[in-house]
Amino acid sequence: MNTVNRRFSVAPMMDWTDHHCRYFLRLISKRALLYTEMVTTGALIHGDSARFLRHAESEHPVALQLGGSNPADLAVCTKMAESAGFDEVNLNVGCPSDRVQNNMIGACLMAHPQLVADCVKQMQDGVDIPVTVKHRIGINGRDSYAELCEFVGTVSDAGCKSFTVHARIAILEGLSPKENREVPPLRYDIAAQLKTDFPDLEIVLNGGIKTIEQCTEHLQSFDGVMIGREAYHNPWLLSEVDHQLFGDVQRNISRTAILEQLRPYLLQHLAQGGKAPHITRHILGLAQSFPGARRFRQLLSADIYKTDEPMRVYDQAIAVLEGR
Ligand SMILES: Cc1cc2nc3c(=O)[nH]c(=O)nc-3n(C[C@H](O)[C@H](O)[C@H](O)COP(=O)(O)O)c2cc1C
Repeated sequence: MNTVNRRFSVAPMMDWTDHHCRYFLRLISKRALLYTEMVTTGALIHGDSARFLRHAESEHPVALQLGGSNPADLAVCTKMAESAGFDEVNLNVGCPSDRVQNNMIGACLMAHPQLVADCVKQMQDGVDIPVTVKHRIGINGRDSYAELCEFVGTVSDAGCKSFTVHARIAILEGLSPKENREVPPLRYDIAAQLKTDFPDLEIVLNGGIKTIEQCTEHLQSFDGVMIGREAYHNPWLLSEVDHQLFGDVQRNISRTAILEQLRPYLLQHLAQGGKAPHITRHILGLAQSFPGARRFRQLLSADIYKTDEPMRVYDQAIAVLEGR
C-alpha cells in the first residue's frame, strides 16, 4: 500500500476545494495533503464521473472524499478513484446536513458503526490506496466517549487505520451545517484521549485550528492536523507548512510569485472557454492582512466578473499586492 503523509492536510470543503482551488493551494505548499469536495457515490456512478475525478498531476498528494453508505457502491467508487490516480479515499462520516442524512451519508453514520465497518472493508478490498474516515466525536443522542470508542474500534477492526476527528459533536436536527461547525464546543481533550486509547491508529485532529503554532502544538499529541476554513480564507498560511511542519528547506516565495505561477493555468482555462472567476474566487484571501487586501478582493471578486479583459484585472490585482 502506498503511504500518504497526513501530518498536515487541507480539509474537504464543498464548493471550495475544487480542482482549481487545489491547484492554487499546491503552488503554496508542496507537502500539504489536499482533499477534494465530497462526492456522493450516486453522483460518481451515475453522473459525470470525469468531472468529479478531474485533478492535475501537480495536485498530489490528493485524496478523494466520498459520501455514501452502500458498501458495494462505495467499493466501485474507490476503485474509480484509484484508477483515476488519487492517493487516498476518505469516507465522510462528519457532515451533518439534512440533505445528506436522508441518504444516510455523513455524520448520521456514526450511529451505525458496523455499517461503516462494512463500507470500509469493501472499499479497502481490491485497492492498494488507503481508505480513511473523517468523523465527529459524536452526534446528539450518541455522544458518550464509550460510543466514540465503539465506533473507532469497530471501523478500525475492518481495516481503517487513519481517522480524522473533527473535535466537536454534530447536532443532526435544528442546526445548519454552518452552525454545526461553530456551535457545538471543540473538545480537543476527547480527540487526544482517543489517540491515547488507540495508540496504533493514526489520529488526525480537525476543527478550529488557525495557526502554524497551534499545528505544532497539536502535533505533540496527534499524528496530523487538518485545517479547513482558515486555509481557505488565509491560504498564505500554507507557505509555512513545508518548512515548519515537514522540516523542508524554506522556499523563498512571495504572494506575487504564486500569482505569476498561476497565470498559465488561468490562461489555459480561459482558452478552453472557462471564466476567470472560477479560479480567482479561490485566491481572494491571498492578500489577507496586506495593505490593499480590500482592493485585491474587489478586483478579483467583482471587477473581474464585469470585464472582457480578465487578465488586465488580474495584473491590476498583482500590482495591488506589490504596492504599486
Ligand atoms: C464550505 C465548507 C464545506 C465543507 N464541506 C465538507 C465536505 O464536503 N466534507 C467534509 O467532510 N467536511 C466538510 N466541511 C467541514 C470541514 O472539512 C471541516 O471539518 C470543518 O470546517 C472544521 O475544520 P476548520 O475549523 O478547520 O474549518 C466543510 C466546511 C466548510 C466551511
